[in-house]
Parts: sequence; structure tokens; C-alpha cells
Amino acid sequence: MSIQNILCVGAGYVGGPSMAVIADQCPEITVRVVDINPERVAQWNSDTLPVYEPGLDAIVQRCRGRNLFFESPTPDHVNAADMVFVSVNTPTKSFGHGSGQAADLQYWESTARWLRPHLKRGAIVVEKSTVPVKTAEAIATILHYDRPEQDIAVLSNPEFLAEGTAIRDLEQPDRVLIGHGDSPADQAAAQALADVYAHWVPREQILFSSVWSSELAKLAANALLAQRITSMNTLTALCERTNADISQIADAVGHDKRIGPRFLQAGVGFGGSCFRKDILNLAYLCEQEGLNVEAAYWRSVVLLNDHQTDRFARMIVEKQFNSVAGKRVVIFGFAFKPGTNDTRDAPAIRVCRSLLEERAKLVITDPQALEHARQDLAGLAGGITFEPDPYRAAAGAHAIALVTEWPEFAALDYARIYAGMEKPAFLFDGRNLLDAAALHGLGFNVYPLGRRARTHL
Ligand SMILES: NC(=O)c1ccc[n+]([C@@H]2O[C@H](COP(=O)([O-])OP(=O)(O)OC[C@H]3O[C@@H](n4cnc5c(N)ncnc54)[C@H](O)[C@@H]3O)[C@@H](O)[C@H]2O)c1
Repeated sequence: MSIQNILCVGAGYVGGPSMAVIADQCPEITVRVVDINPERVAQWNSDTLPVYEPGLDAIVQRCRGRNLFFESPTPDHVNAADMVFVSVNTPTKSFGHGSGQAADLQYWESTARWLRPHLKRGAIVVEKSTVPVKTAEAIATILHYDRPEQDIAVLSNPEFLAEGTAIRDLEQPDRVLIGHGDSPADQAAAQALADVYAHWVPREQILFSSVWSSELAKLAANALLAQRITSMNTLTALCERTNADISQIADAVGHDKRIGPRFLQAGVGFGGSCFRKDILNLAYLCEQEGLNVEAAYWRSVVLLNDHQTDRFARMIVEKQFNSVAGKRVVIFGFAFKPGTNDTRDAPAIRVCRSLLEERAKLVITDPQALEHARQDLAGLAGGITFEPDPYRAAAGAHAIALVTEWPEFAALDYARIYAGMEKPAFLFDGRNLLDAAALHGLGFNVYPLGRRARTHL
């Protein structure tokens, strides 16, 4: 089965970049990405893409109008497609049963209902969104309603990209996972999807599994990554009290080949649209199966993550003589991680809320995420300023709180920043990005996480 026309439903952080890479690597395939949000479609067709990812602009410029198109959805799109990726959002449910935990699958289901009458015979529907186990089965039931099962194959192909490195992750994935059913039609569909990836991914890195394993593997991967960060974060408070250094611990344990060096960086907590949502979803699934102890284990990861963010916010208040009321506090970084403009579930939101409750005057600076920060903090009482220039942001400030480890922040002239600040000047490094000893030498009172503070007080 040769794929010539691909449709992707959902032009978000996953749909846009992943389809751009397919279009780039497979020039003979026409890729159309549709979205119900006309504003998003317009942004994808403009010079300012809705998603900031290093390397994405160049690919979109190469492919857009050639074999990559961003459009509003029509039945003709579905009818023409050999393969349909669905990468609509699957947020945490905010109402009814499972509120605050389960995945809200309404966008997925409405997409399936919309696709069903227009899909051509032999079409392959690929579940790219992160979904609870057995979603593909439910979707297949909708798609197969009143038509023979062999008409449409449903595959699971979870996306493992990380924002900030999405293009590299898509171009050189650690693995591609394809979950499929047992029928010959399903197996042929899985092979057709593998053939698309094989344009640039070595065959041995394309893994096949059952649909359920594939769906659960995605939740498991995010749960394990988040748990690993959290495990390191839980050690930071103890390090601060005992004068141990969390970076030295990360280095020492990371040399153990069974552990490995990556994802051991302690900080103010994980964020982003996926980790919290997927862990809560996993915990909810456990609970639905009566596995309450397992559910509590995974839920504790989220509780500890919030605890770490709150601990950082409390530290900012406590170390400044227990009051930040009326003080100018600069937030260095609002995106949930560097390399993206995404602020969904960013720890900065929680830190800012907490400091606003303490009546601090906040100044937010970020290389890419100021527009989203403005939306996230809209309506909150208190003084908030948004300032793209970190030097201007820090002028007259009592404290800097570094929340996102953008490399730009490491390259600043801190002597100049210190000169313009109120004294005593405080710097809270929530990512251990900066050279604490050097900053201390300039006059700052420096509070990293999981390392001893260096103060002049
Ligand atoms: N963001 C990530 O880093 C990441 C990584 C891996 C997996 N995922 C998963 O991928 C999925 C998508 O995530 P995202 O970050 O791209 O979300 P997103 O919110 O950025 O994009 C989803 C898009 O789908 C559109 N949409 C919703 N319903 C639609 C419909 N019926 N027809 C057409 N368009 C529709 C929305 O308008 C939105 O633009 C989620 O399940 C997420 O968990 C995300």
C-alpha cells in the first residue's frame, strides 16, 4: 500500500512540526494539516508560526505550498486521504466524572465522528494524540459503525517529541512506535506507516506492538520521565540543609550505567502540557481498575512536583526577610522549558500566582513566551509588567527568580544587572543555570536549588 496523501487533524505543537518533517522527508507525499481554529491555520500560513521550535521555520518555508498545506477542514480533505493522523488535544477533563484526572476525549471523538462518513475504503487512521489505553478500540468502534471493519485500519503511533528539541527528535527519533491489530489489513496498515517513517528512520528503530501496549507505553514514558525529575527534586531540600550539592549527586549517580546521566537536572518542577496530564491519566486508569496503591504512587509524583514549585516560591519570600510586598521581583523565563514559546502548566505560572498573593510587583521577561505569559496571567490582581529586555526588567529590582533555563540568561552581564538593582540584591536560581560563586562575588545573595546558598547577610 503506497501512501500519497496524508491528512493530519490538529495543527498544534505535535501536528504542525511532525507533519512538516514528514513533508520534508517524503517529497512525493502531499501532507495537509487541518485545524478547526482558523486563527491557527492563518498563523501557520504566515511568517510568524504559532509554534516556536528551533529549525521549524526553515522546514516550513521549504515545504509549505510544495507538499505541505495548512487549511481549514473540509470533507474533501478526508476523502482524498490515504492516511489520517489525529493529533488533536486531549487535555485533562475539567468536569463531571474523572474531573481533574481523566483525559477529555471529546475532541478525539468528534474528530472520529466527522471522519467516518468521508473516509475512503482502505484508509488508515493513526492515533497520534496521547490517549488512555483502549481509546483506539473505542475510536475503531465509531469508525466501523455501519461499514465493514476491513474498510478502515486504526493504528496507534504515539509521539515522543519533546518541545524545544522537537525537530531533532522528529528527524532522529530514539524510536518510532506503531501499535496495530492482528488482522492482515491492520498489519498491512502498520507496514504502510512504517514505510513512511523508513524514508528517514532506520528500520530497526521502528518498533511494533499491540495497540494497547503502544497507548500505555506513551503514558509510561512520560510518567517515568516526570518521576525521574521529581526524584531528584525531592533531594534538593535535603541538600540545602546538609550542604550537599545536587549537581554533584546527579553527576555521581549518572555515571552508573543503569541510571545514565540524562534527565537528572533538579529544578523548580516540571511543566508542559503532557507530564501532569499523562500521570494523572495513568493514575486514573489504575484507579478505574481498582489499583489504588499504584494510583497513589503515580499521583504522589504530581503532588511532589507542586510541592517543589511552592517551596521555591516560599524561598523567594522567606529569604527576603519574609516579605516581598511592594518589592520588584523579576521572573527570568516563563516558558515551561527553553526552546519553546509553550507555557502550558509552566511552573512560572504557579510561582507568579504565589508571589502576587504576597503582593510582589512582578516583571516577566522571556525570549519567546511573553505573549502567552500575558494571556496566562490576565485577570490576576497585582502589578505585572512584561519586558522583553532582561536588563530593563532587572533595573530597580529587589530580586531575580530564574525559572526557565534559557541559555540567553547565562550569557547576560550580571555586573551590569547588579549595578542597577536595589541592595541587598537577591538571585534565586530555580534551575542551577548560573555560576553561583561568580554572582556572589559580584555582590548578589544567591540561592540555588539543592546547593548551599551564598550570601553576604
Ligand atoms: N506538546 C507536546 O509536547 C506533545 C508531545 C507528545 C504528545 N503530545 C500529545 O499530542 C496531542 C496534541 O498535543 P498538542 O500539544 O499538539 O496540542 P495543541 O493544543 O497544541 O493542538 C491541538 C490542535 O487540535 C485542534 N483541534 C481540536 N479539535 C479539532 C477538530 N475536531 N478538528 C480539527 N482540529 C482540531 C485544536 O484547535 C489545536 O490547534 C495531545 O494528545 C498531547 O498529549 C503532545
